[in-house]
Amino acid sequence: MKKVTAFVGTASKKHTLYAVRQFLNGIESQGDVESEVVVLSDYKLEACRGCKVCFAKGEEFCPLKDDRDVLIEKMMMSDGVVFATPNYSFQVSGIMKVFLDRLGCMFHRPRFFGKVFTGIVVQGFYGGPKILKYLDFVAQGLGFRVTKGSCVTALDPMTEKAKRKAEAVLKAHSARFLDRLSQPPYPSPPLVMLMVFRMGRSSILRELDETARDYTYWRDKGWFESDYFYPVRLNVFQKAVGGLLDYFLARRAKPQPQP
Ligand SMILES: Cc1cc2nc3c(=O)[nH]c(=O)nc-3n(C[C@H](O)[C@H](O)[C@H](O)COP(=O)(O)O)c2cc1C
Repeated sequence: MKKVTAFVGTASKKHTLYAVRQFLNGIESQGDVESEVVVLSDYKLEACRGCKVCFAKGEEFCPLKDDRDVLIEKMMMSDGVVFATPNYSFQVSGIMKVFLDRLGCMFHRPRFFGKVFTGIVVQGFYGGPKILKYLDFVAQGLGFRVTKGSCVTALDPMTEKAKRKAEAVLKAHSARFLDRLSQPPYPSPPLVMLMVFRMGRSSILRELDETARDYTYWRDKGWFESDYFYPVRLNVFQKAVGGLLDYFLARRAKPQPQP
């Protein structure tokens, strides 16, 4: 059985939550899936103060004491993860952004490989697809395999036609997500992610040392020697691109300490 957890960024517990429930009902009725809904406003989440201690020393040194680790643990225990948000002022909701900021250092130290991600955006009239793209970008940076999400329009009062349209969109989305969940969890990487890996590694080796948490994280994961974030057989083209990148990136000058 697969576990899917949906993180919902709406305090109103109305349209976005309803869309998430429809999506999860779809996957539970079609597949061997157990789901959990996590409404972010039911948890304690504090706004990041920007001290960057998590980047430099590690997330356990964060001065904020909230439910961040509970939420991360829920993601780690899941095979599939959904971020769902209403469109507020043409962006994710405030609480969703606070949540994403709390994961900020994980763009440097990604950890959600092998897990499938998808986004759900509920909008009143305009701007949802851009937000969906943003969520996909964030999730890819965290290490997830991203499956195309859905944007649903839900303005009160919802007409029968709008309800049927949303239902159809979410049903197709459930099927797409289930299909992805059944695929191998560690596929050959897309070229862009291979480049992200090689460029990230090169920057860390060039600019950091053992006193930096990013350095020890990448070192301890074996990423200074590996082909990619996880064991995978690269094809000839990927090997060539990776090798060329490593070669040219290694030739860049080391930054000199400021006088
Ligand atoms: C503060 C606020 C800002 C909003 N901004 C937008 C917007 O920029 N674009 C849009 O299409 N809808 C906007 N809406 C409408 C919501 O996206 C829409 O009503 C959605 O269904 C709300 O989901 P919810 O019931 O889960 O909160 C906004 C709603 C609120 C409360």
